[in-house]
Parts: sequence; structure tokens; C-alpha cells
Amino acid sequence: MRQKSKNILSISACCLSSLLFFSVAAADHDHGHDKHESKNLPPVTNETYRQECGACHFVYQPGLLPAGSWEKIMNQLPAHFAEELEIEQGAKNVIADYLRSNAAEHASAERAAKILKSLNGQKTLRITEIPYIRKKHRELQQDIFSRQSVGSLANCPACHTSAEQGVYEDDLVKIPQ
Ligand code: HEC
Ligand code: HEC
Repeated sequence: MRQKSKNILSISACCLSSLLFFSVAAADHDHGHDKHESKNLPPVTNETYRQECGACHFVYQPGLLPAGSWEKIMNQLPAHFAEELEIEQGAKNVIADYLRSNAAEHASAERAAKILKSLNGQKTLRITEIPYIRKKHRELQQDIFSRQSVGSLANCPACHTSAEQGVYEDDLVKIPQ
């Protein structure tokens, strides 16, 4: 509701001059707004996933990886990168289902489509190895990652202040010291 009235305000502020221009610009504006919205990844909604998988690192939105990647991750829990994960079968099934059914293929977000396109069928285990994600960060100086406040590129919320909401807009990035 708030968003809507803001739209109307900004439309009337910029386009009152001509009725024709008004209607064209309004259509344009709406389109731009939808596009912006649809870039964002749906935030995490599953509490089991949040609890079991958020103990050591950020709870990545399922839309950041394809279903095949999540499946591989969930099938390799005893060798989860450097860790040995033990998750009770019931919880494991809940998490696997949640990740599979909300994976990049099922997220309508523009970013999820870009991730899938850049992976081109590969099932990487790491979000940080997705070509699209690497490309977006290639200009960052390496020394940023050795800062204690960052640690690695996998620590999305260190720099993306709205990572928790699934919003990775570049104007909401703040690199910590
Ligand atoms: C005991 C700690 C721990 C728990 C619990 C844990 N992880 Fe991890 N996870 C790690 C470590 C360590 C890494 C590798 C980090 C690195 O190398 O930067 C990692 C990396 C990842 C990555 C790749 C990040 C990247 O580099 O793009 C994903 C995806 C991931 N974990 C998903 C999960 C899921 C899903 C669960 C729950 C089933 C989970 N993790 C639970 C420790 C954990
Ligand atoms: C060290 C800080 C840092 C970390 C950690 C980081 N990012 Fe970024 N990210 C940036 C910066 C800076 C940009 C903006 C690059 C630019 O201006 O084009 C960016 C851009 C992006 C973009 C593109 C935004 C756009 O609108 O074009 C995405 C998507 C993104 N990051 C996702 C992630 C994800 C997912 C993670 C965690 C796996 C992550 N980032 C970790 C700093 C970081």
C-alpha cells in the first residue's frame, strides 16, 4: 500500500504537464517497479533450514542455487566442505524438500534466472563459484576478504546490508572496515 501511494506521488510530481505523457510514463514507471521487485530473491521462510543450516554461516536463499546443487549438498552432509554435519532424518527431509522446491528453477527472480543461465547446467556446490556471482565481485580487492569482518565472499551479509531479505542491489552494499 505504501509503495503504491509513493508511485502515484512520484508519477504526479514528474508528469502532470501532459495527459498523454502521463499515461505513457505511468506505464513505464509500473514496469520499472515490477522489474525491480522481481530481482529480489524470496527470503528464507523455513525454520528448520534456518536452525540447522544457519549455525555456521548465512542461511543462503534457496534461489541462489539450482535444485541439483542443493541435492548434492544434502547428499554429502558427512563431508560438508570442512565439516561433518549430522542432521536427524526428519529435519533433513524437510530441508531437502524446502531447498529443492524453492531452488533457482522455481524462483521467479531475475537473479535466479541469471544464476541458472551462467551455470549452464553445472551443479556447483558453492554460490561463490557461480560465474555470474564471480563476475559481479571480480573488482573487489583481495585484501577485503582477509578482514575479520568479512572472512570470505561466502559471507554475503558482511557487505550486503539487505542480504537477509534476499535483496542484493548494489546501492545497498556497504563494505565493512
Ligand atoms: C558446522 C558448521 C556448518 C553447518 C551447520 C552448515 N554448514 Fe554450510 N558450510 C560450512 C563451511 C565450513 C563451509 C565452507 C565455507 C568456506 O569455505 O568459505 C560451508 C559452505 C556452504 C555453502 C557454500 C558457500 C559458498 O562458498 O558459496 C553452502 C551452499 C552451504 N554451506 C549450505 C549449507 C546447508 C544447506 C546446510 C544445512 C544442511 C549447512 N550449510 C550447514 C559449515 C557449515
Ligand atoms: C566483500 C563484500 C561482499 C561480499 C562478501 C559479497 N558481496 Fe555481493 N557485491 C559486493 C559489491 C561491492 C557489489 C557491487 C558490484 C558492482 O558495483 O557492480 C556486489 C554485487 C552483488 C550482486 C549484483 C548486484 C547488482 O545489482 O548488480 C549480487 C547478486 C551479489 N553481489 C550477491 C552476493 C552474494 C549471494 C554473496 C554471498 C554468497 C555476496 N554477494 C557476497 C560486495 C560483496
